[in-house]
Amino acid sequence: MAQPRVFITRRIFPEAVAFLRQSFDVDYEDSDDVLGAEQIAARAAGAQGIICHISHRFDASLIEKLTTVKVIANVAVGYDAIDVKAANKAGIVVTNTPDVLSETSADLAFALLLAAARRIVEAHHFVHSGAWKNWTVDLLAGQDIHGRTLGIVGAGRIGQAVARRGRGFNMQVLYHNSRRLPEAIERELGLTLVSKEELLRESDFVSLNMPLRPETRHFMGAAEFALMKPNAILVNTARGPVVDENAMVEALEKRIIAGAGLDVFENEPKVHPKLLQLDNVVLAPHIASSSVATRRRMSMMAAENVAAVLRGLPPLNPVTVS
Ligand code: 8YV
Repeated sequence: MAQPRVFITRRIFPEAVAFLRQSFDVDYEDSDDVLGAEQIAARAAGAQGIICHISHRFDASLIEKLTTVKVIANVAVGYDAIDVKAANKAGIVVTNTPDVLSETSADLAFALLLAAARRIVEAHHFVHSGAWKNWTVDLLAGQDIHGRTLGIVGAGRIGQAVARRGRGFNMQVLYHNSRRLPEAIERELGLTLVSKEELLRESDFVSLNMPLRPETRHFMGAAEFALMKPNAILVNTARGPVVDENAMVEALEKRIIAGAGLDVFENEPKVHPKLLQLDNVVLAPHIASSSVATRRRMSMMAAENVAAVLRGLPPLNPVTVS
């Protein structure tokens, strides 16, 4: 009997490809090109499993064409690019890569927070360009992190890992979430539940860690920036569209807030041209989970999810939406 076919839409870690090749007929797009919906549909014809990335949009019209597919394994925890409802209705299991990337992603959120507060990128350019001639009392003076207030929006696995880092810096940590966390977790992490408005008004640093859903799209707009402190720094490692980018640019330009550390953007990989001109932002190209160990583990997890489903076993990390 022919082996089930697995289509890998984009380059992943080689261990994961080798693992799948042991049991399946693998069609591997060994490149960093982003295939379009038509190319995906054509290559997936006759395949039972797909491994994809967030840059591939699986909407209902593409899913309809995947008549032989049993599993779509997303190499990411966020699955907003996949119409999970349509997939489940078509009998396709969708999986993601939770947990393995939480600590790594929180590390980057904190790196952006530190870099924006202590002006590390500006400092690097200052030294690198030869502008450093002298010591001055307020040279590249930034903001303290320790002892300040950190507001976490979305206290899931990554948000909680960011909170733990905040506690390590002796910060007061507020959170806003779709539901209250168990008291034991609040106590362990020293978290205080507050309203969205209170969090924005009180925090010196706001870290966005929620998933992109219809109700979180443009969670941050002009009205929200107006509530924030003028010294506040926004960190977004969630998804670009949770922030109204035009409103954020205006808030940064007019110093309604002090700065931002951004790993995600509304129209990735396009970046708002004005963000490239501001000196109060630190920008990264969606690399929150990008440590070698974590990206390897994410690749393997996606492969293991595909293998489980194609062997008739329960998926390890299924996602569903109500
Ligand atoms: C990945 C992410 O870097 O997991 C997510 O949701 O956004 C990141 O971990 C990216 O999605 C890789 O495909």
